[in-house]
Amino acid sequence: MSSPMRIAFLGDVVGQPGKRAAIAAAKSLRAAWGESGGVIVANGENIRNGSGITPELLGHLVQGGIDAVTLGDHALRELKIVPALERAGEPICRPANMPYRAPGKRSVRIDRGTGRRGVTIFTVLGRTFMPTPGSDPFECCERMLAERTHADDIVIVEAHMEATSEKIALARFLDGRVAAVVGTHTHVPTADARILKGGTAFMTDLGMCGPYDSIIGRSTEAVLRHLTTGLPTQFDVAEGGTLACGAVIEVSEDTGLARSIERYEMSA
Ligand SMILES: [Fe+2]
Ligand SMILES: [Fe+2]
Repeated sequence: MSSPMRIAFLGDVVGQPGKRAAIAAAKSLRAAWGESGGVIVANGENIRNGSGITPELLGHLVQGGIDAVTLGDHALRELKIVPALERAGEPICRPANMPYRAPGKRSVRIDRGTGRRGVTIFTVLGRTFMPTPGSDPFECCERMLAERTHADDIVIVEAHMEATSEKIALARFLDGRVAAVVGTHTHVPTADARILKGGTAFMTDLGMCGPYDSIIGRSTEAVLRHLTTGLPTQFDVAEGGTLACGAVIEVSEDTGLARSIERYEMSA
């Protein structure tokens, strides 16, 4: 039996504090993993002052040790990212079930060389309580799996969804067919990291990399002002209590399915 493949998936990176935390986490994970390496993925949809991503910020994440960057409902808030999203070599993708003419790649593939499984990562948006819902995420996952070019790849699916039930439903639907289904978007980590019956690792929400002295990453004062007065308010990214949150999944090179999943949290 060959040694398992480690994959760390970090939740939504929020603003400068989130970027700092995600890069610190990547550095610490790499130091712990040593030569055997692994793959580090992060959702970058909130890195630009809370929404969107620029090519410069993508560069910072990649130089900081993040191998692949995914996005969510804020994918196209900053259009400067579009050329990078469309370029084959850039390790960034937009959600796969956005409108079919949306610009950008629908998945990222990490080639790990001869004799080792590649890793394919893609994100689907939910349809419940989402301001910009995607098309049917179940059908989209079926299509992504059927159309993939490398059948042996380890597949990681990110469920960028608001409703816990929708995330669990997608994980059950894909159980035994992909290595992991991990939820993002709520910015609040859940305590349910586990392996489902068919061998798929699952966690309802990875939480965010960002300031937890906040309301899901934004200034507490600003959000409360808006909610208690109804006045339009700018939600600046908060500071303080910064953590990098996510999960570390070990995947069997023999089966392409999960051997373990653990919630990850690091103070930054
Ligand atoms: Fe987010
Ligand atoms: Fe989101």
